[in-house]
Amino acid sequence: MVDMRVNLCGIDMDNPVMAASGTFGFGHEFAELYDINILGSFSFKGTTLEPRFGNPTPRIAECESGLINSIGLQNPGVNEVIDNELPKLAEVFNKPVMANIGGSSVEDYAMTAKALSSCKQIGWLEINVSCPNVNHGGMAFGTDPAVVQEVTEAVKANTEKPVIIKLSPNVTDITAIARACENGGADGVSLVNTMLGMRINLKTGKPVIANKMGGFSGPAIFPVALRMVYQVYEAVGLPIVGIGGIAKAEQVIEMMMAGATAVQIGAANLVNPYACRDIVNDLPKIMDKYGISSLSEIIGGAH
Ligand code: SIN
Repeated sequence: MVDMRVNLCGIDMDNPVMAASGTFGFGHEFAELYDINILGSFSFKGTTLEPRFGNPTPRIAECESGLINSIGLQNPGVNEVIDNELPKLAEVFNKPVMANIGGSSVEDYAMTAKALSSCKQIGWLEINVSCPNVNHGGMAFGTDPAVVQEVTEAVKANTEKPVIIKLSPNVTDITAIARACENGGADGVSLVNTMLGMRINLKTGKPVIANKMGGFSGPAIFPVALRMVYQVYEAVGLPIVGIGGIAKAEQVIEMMMAGATAVQIGAANLVNPYACRDIVNDLPKIMDKYGISSLSEIIGGAH
């Protein structure tokens, strides 16, 4: 029997596999396909203080080994999430869930965090300072260490839940951003969000995406994400959630050896809605293959 349990920021998880925000709705949608309690947890759709309609369409551009999205943080707003989405989730999921929070100002992040902190189902807050698809907040915040620290401090002052800051790969030195999170009192970091990219439609000669650019994710970014997790593990003492192009159990193990305590699966859910379930089911077999008896013991093992 292999041991897949990990502890992320003080919360025990049966396994390290989570679905990434924006690829798994509010969970209950996927519960129609399979029992989502097989997951370690998941991060729900990025939630803001007020409802957001999102960006104009087209918002998606397919690429050879991934896709570009420019959704623009479409969501029903924090009150609707608390009143309707979370009660529906409680019917199908009995583990702590991660709340992903977006914002246009430091106050937005703090107030949304405060509102969600009263929800018992929520285990961790994941603060998205890395969305490349909004004009205010998002990546503009997450690429400046001083602002990242300010957001972190503001959220920490408004919650008792563990705070995990979600980092952008669109920086020269991700370790400087991770250190700002640590200085601001973050409990963990998750990385990476999507890489800024674009496609051009040869028929129109114009960008495919209405907003011109968007966030690129999928298998192509795995080596970049792995490298950044490795670097951040050496730079700070915070638990890391590894994200970026993971599509199979072997890559979960690679991410953990680089330094991740848990992982999030994103784009793979859009190709195969059973991707997270399949990865959880495959993990024991892959652990056996490489002689791994306990996942928590391999965290950072590549250093
Ligand atoms: C979006 O809603 O545009 C995607 C969220 C993100 O990349 O952080």
